[in-house]
Amino acid sequence: MTLPVFPETYIDLLPEVRAFLGEELKLYIGGRWVPALSGATFETVDPSTGRVLARVPSAQAEDVDAAVRAARQTFDSGAWHLKLTASERGRLIWRLADLIEARAPILAQLDALDNGKPVKKAQTVDVPLSADHFRYYAGWTTKIEGATIPVSTPGMFNYTVREPIGVCGLIVPWNYPLLMAAWKIAPALAAGNCIILKPAEQTPLSALYLARLFEEAGFPPGVFNVLTGYGETAGAALVEHPGVDKIGFTGSASVARTIIRNSASTLKRVSLELGGKSPNIIFADADLEQAVVGATWASFGNNGQSCTAGSRLYIERRVFDRVVEGIADEVAKIRVGMGMQAEQPDLGPVVSGDQLNTVMGYIQDGYASGAQSVIGGKRLGGALADGYFIEPTVFVNVQDSLKIAREEIFGPVVCAMPFDDADEVLWRANETPFGLAAGLWTRDLATAHRFAAKLRAGTIWINTWGDTDAASPFGGYKQSGHGREMGKEAIDLYSEVKSVWLRAD
Ligand code: NAI
Ligand code: MG
Repeated sequence: MTLPVFPETYIDLLPEVRAFLGEELKLYIGGRWVPALSGATFETVDPSTGRVLARVPSAQAEDVDAAVRAARQTFDSGAWHLKLTASERGRLIWRLADLIEARAPILAQLDALDNGKPVKKAQTVDVPLSADHFRYYAGWTTKIEGATIPVSTPGMFNYTVREPIGVCGLIVPWNYPLLMAAWKIAPALAAGNCIILKPAEQTPLSALYLARLFEEAGFPPGVFNVLTGYGETAGAALVEHPGVDKIGFTGSASVARTIIRNSASTLKRVSLELGGKSPNIIFADADLEQAVVGATWASFGNNGQSCTAGSRLYIERRVFDRVVEGIADEVAKIRVGMGMQAEQPDLGPVVSGDQLNTVMGYIQDGYASGAQSVIGGKRLGGALADGYFIEPTVFVNVQDSLKIAREEIFGPVVCAMPFDDADEVLWRANETPFGLAAGLWTRDLATAHRFAAKLRAGTIWINTWGDTDAASPFGGYKQSGHGREMGKEAIDLYSEVKSVWLRAD
């Protein structure tokens, strides 16, 4: 494969990245690198330039079948969850974390090229958090315990054990390619499962590189498999395959519904981490300087392509103008540019031409329904015209009923809306089918606790936004998902409980 010509403003590609992009990339199945059986491939694009980065195999149903067979064989042989001790499994996962850390610059360049995000952000946020995730779950392998149950049948001894579910198909999105994969892979591995990872078609590269690190770390073949391919083909075939015991999915609610429908015939376990329209509430008594910066990054962090984007911003009316002005000033300082450019921007492009069209469609819809932008609202041109760049956009004059205030935009767009009193804003904040995250900014402890209790969302942030930690559970209420990732909850998500009865008298 000939390498694309990158803009002169780009930092140098690492030799390993150059070599990787120049190779014929393959699927990773049962510890072997193989092309798709049909020979089909697809292109992955650099969203900063619109140019093709690489071709990767397009897995079809028969490739999914091969991967499922490999993973099943490994699982059934017990090579991972039975033949290795818990300590040995933990050490392998830890070694993988070490390798991720050692190759951070490579992984960061791959995600920056594929997704468009600033390479520095990928290297200082995405990759270290991924390594951390593996380390956290490496520690869990030796701590997955059952219980002895005081049953009331005389002479009976009853205990529980937690066992792996089996073969897990993990389907992940493109917004944090490596990190979203890590969130699922690490607990699934710790619980003893075998894995088939299906990265998003927009960002397949770091998943393929990760497979090399699994190989280098010395995992038994078949424990970790990667299928690059489209959702409607590779993803759908994984969901329907009777040899897959569980699907772990992060992505859109509409695909989640399809997954639930398509998993019905096999009744496989499904966990879902979906999006939201998260309310972020600023009270007049808050540290407003802190709230302005916090709300800006709650809205525009990762270009708004974040499931927890604080995209409904409620501001107490008497400070509304002041706060909106402050946010507009912050936004004016945001530098948008190519993720790989030497002079690092704060935000890159959105991930694809499709996403650009979706987000610009929402912006047009906002204007058409009477919303006004205090800043932003346009696609960026000039040197950025070939990429998918959008100005960070702050809308005011927005009613809660507008499409831009109800639907997940997943781009750099926030709706700022005034409120008058606490009960009103609490009601409005909860008036959504979603429930992933919610937050508030206040100095009043009673308000903080009351809202923490009454907001219907899986994560509440108070005087902060966006924090996550491998140790803290994360997931959605209502239509934002099923199940909790991270923390010890994710061990439950990736294991079955067995209850054992023994006549002991
Ligand atoms: P998507 O939900 O289509 O993609 C997520 C993953 O699902 C990808 O790996 C894709 O290949 C796979 N997939 C697609 N169709 C499938 C199917 N029928 N069966 C199995 N797997 C399938 O998301 P998309 O289209 O890339 O983005 C559209 C919108 O989804 C975004 O604008 C955003 O609102 C939302 N989204 C939310 C995310 C989150 O973190 N909650 C992440 C990505 C997208
Ligand atoms: Mg790409």
